[in-house]
Amino acid sequence: SLPETYNSPVALAIIGGTGISRLDGFKSVASLNITTPWGSPSSPVIILETPSGAPVAFISRHGLYHEYTPSEVPSRANIAALRSIGVRTIIAFSAVGSLREEIPPRDFVIPTQIIDRTKGIRPATFFDGGIVAHVGFSDPFDERVGRIVKASEGALEGGAKIHEGKTLVCMEGPQFSTRAESKMYRSWGGDIINMSVLPESKLAREAEIHYAMICMATDYDCFRDDAPPVNVPEVLAHMAANAVNAQRLIAALLIELVKEEHEDLLSGQALKESSKWAVCTK
Ligand code: ADE
Repeated sequence: SLPETYNSPVALAIIGGTGISRLDGFKSVASLNITTPWGSPSSPVIILETPSGAPVAFISRHGLYHEYTPSEVPSRANIAALRSIGVRTIIAFSAVGSLREEIPPRDFVIPTQIIDRTKGIRPATFFDGGIVAHVGFSDPFDERVGRIVKASEGALEGGAKIHEGKTLVCMEGPQFSTRAESKMYRSWGGDIINMSVLPESKLAREAEIHYAMICMATDYDCFRDDAPPVNVPEVLAHMAANAVNAQRLIAALLIELVKEEHEDLLSGQALKESSKWAVCTK
């Protein structure tokens, strides 16, 4: 079994979504059971080391046994736990439905925008209970981290592509959408749909952490009248292939991200004090 402590700061984290409950190919050096004022994270925080010895934290969003629905994920505990060990950049993975013919299952997408269709039942801020702050969220994702991900596209096999500049609809679930909703999201400019980017990305912004999401298409949702609607076996079949590609992408990415030229992403310098003008004192 792994040590339960790790004594240096860990600047980089990966959050795995459905199909990615662990990271292969890296040495695991610790397994941390962290408790935060917002409870315990969805899984132990596993610390891995890249070939150059840089530490990376890993959390499985839905738990080790997929026990948390998207509505139940303890996102505040996940983000607070990562921040407490020094994390400054998060790369989050998520299975998504495609709302566009040009994004077939097994392609990957780096979204730049979000449309919130969650129902307000997920605790979505650290700033309550006496502290009031409004952080900017106009551009929810870190575009520089996104570009580094795109540069590692060559690691994907089977002809999978990485699309950029797309809009992600986040719905409450756990049921999938109706056809009318799926078509409405397309008319709103939605390109892909999931149940997991919120509130995780909002909380990362409040915690001054660079956040990028790698979305992995598993289905065409249900906007196509001539095709069967999204169903779990379809999602899982494409997810198995996507998981292999995700592990390949992570291997390429981790080598790139820990290079010296990206030092400021990992030191917190670039986002430091981004919340400074967000706190309301009157
Ligand atoms: N995750 C994977 N496919 C999805 C879909 N069609 N809608 C919402 N979340 C999803």
